[in-house]
Amino acid sequence: MNIDPNHIPSRRELRVQEEAEKARAEAQATTENQVEESPAEATQEAPVAEATETETAPLAEKEAEAASAEESAPEAAEKDSEDSSEKGEIIVEMKGIYKDFTQGDETIHALKPTDFTARKGEFIALIGPSGSGKSTMLTIIGGLQTPTGGTIKVGGRDLSELSDKQRAKARLDEIGFILQSANLVPFLTVNEQLDLYDRVAKTKNQPGHTQKDRDELFESLGILKLKNKYKSDLSGGEKQRAAIARALYATPSVILADEPTAALDSKKAFAVAELLREQAKVHDTCIIMVTHDERLIDHVDAVYRMEDGELTKAK
Ligand SMILES: Nc1ncnc2c1ncn2[C@@H]1O[C@H](COP(=O)(O)OP(=O)(O)OP(=O)(O)O)[C@@H](O)[C@H]1O
Ligand SMILES: [Mg+2]
Repeated sequence: MNIDPNHIPSRRELRVQEEAEKARAEAQATTENQVEESPAEATQEAPVAEATETETAPLAEKEAEAASAEESAPEAAEKDSEDSSEKGEIIVEMKGIYKDFTQGDETIHALKPTDFTARKGEFIALIGPSGSGKSTMLTIIGGLQTPTGGTIKVGGRDLSELSDKQRAKARLDEIGFILQSANLVPFLTVNEQLDLYDRVAKTKNQPGHTQKDRDELFESLGILKLKNKYKSDLSGGEKQRAAIARALYATPSVILADEPTAALDSKKAFAVAELLREQAKVHDTCIIMVTHDERLIDHVDAVYRMEDGELTKAK
C-alpha cells in the first residue's frame, strides 16, 4: 500500500537498489544482530517483498561469518551468558584506544589515547565540534573500524584481539545502530522492517517477537498507527522512532546513535532523547548518542566531550 504510482518498476528498482546500498551497512547493523544458525535457510525462506536481492545476500554472508567466528570465540560466548542478568555492569570498556589516519606525510590523530567505560542501562551523550573524533570513537565501539592501538571490550569480548570475522560476530550479538538518516529499508513498511530481523535471526513468533510484542513496542514509541507505512510516508521524527523500534527489537546490549536528532526540530529532538532515555532504562540497554545539540544533555546520565580527539567527562 501507499506505493508511489509514478514509479515505473525499473526506475523504482534502481532507486531501491541505490538506497538499499546506502542503507545496507546501517540496516545490517540493526537487523542482523544475533545471527546464529546456518546461512542456507535465510536465502530459501520466503523473502520480504523485494528485499531478496539487496538484503539476503549480505545477511547470509554475515551469518556465515558469525558461524565461523563462534567456533573460535568460546570465551566470549561464556562471558555472554554471565553478563546477561546483572544490571549496571560494564558493557563497553576502552583502554588507551587511539586512531590515527595518515594523509600524505601528515598524521591525523583522530582519537588520542582514550579510556572509556559504559554500563548497561546507561544513556550517554558524546558531544563536541565537527571533526573532533566522535564518529571515530563510535565506529570503533561498533567494531566498524579498527583502532590503531589500545584495547576495547564490548560485552566482554576483546575487539582488538579478534579477527574481522570474529568482530562481525561480536557486532551482531551486541550492537544496534541508529543513524541520522534513520537507516530504514525504503521498500519495507515499518512492521516489515522487523520481519527482516526475524527472518535472519530465526526468531519469528518466538517470545518477544510476536505481532503482539511488536505492537506493544510500536505503541510505546507512539508509532502503532504507522506500522503499515513506508519510510517515504513518515515524518523525520516518525522515521527516527521506527529506526529506534527496529534497533530495540533485536535487543542489543549497546545502541550507538550517531546524531539521531540532527534532522529534527528542538521539540522532536527532546522527545526522541527522552524516548531513548526511557528505553535505556526499560531494556537495560547502554545507549551512546553522538549529538551536536548541547540542550539534550539534561536528558542523559553522563556527558562526554570530544575535542581534537581528546575525550573528557563533562557530566
Ligand atoms: N577515513 C578517514 N581518513 C582520514 N581522516 C579521517 C577519516 N575519518 C575521519 N577522519 C578525520 O578524523 C577526524 C575525526 O573525524 P570524525 O568523523 O570522528 O569527527 P566527528 O566528531 O564525528 O565530526 P562530525 O561532527 O562532523 O561528524 C577528522 O579530522 C576527520 O577528518
Ligand atoms: Mg561524525
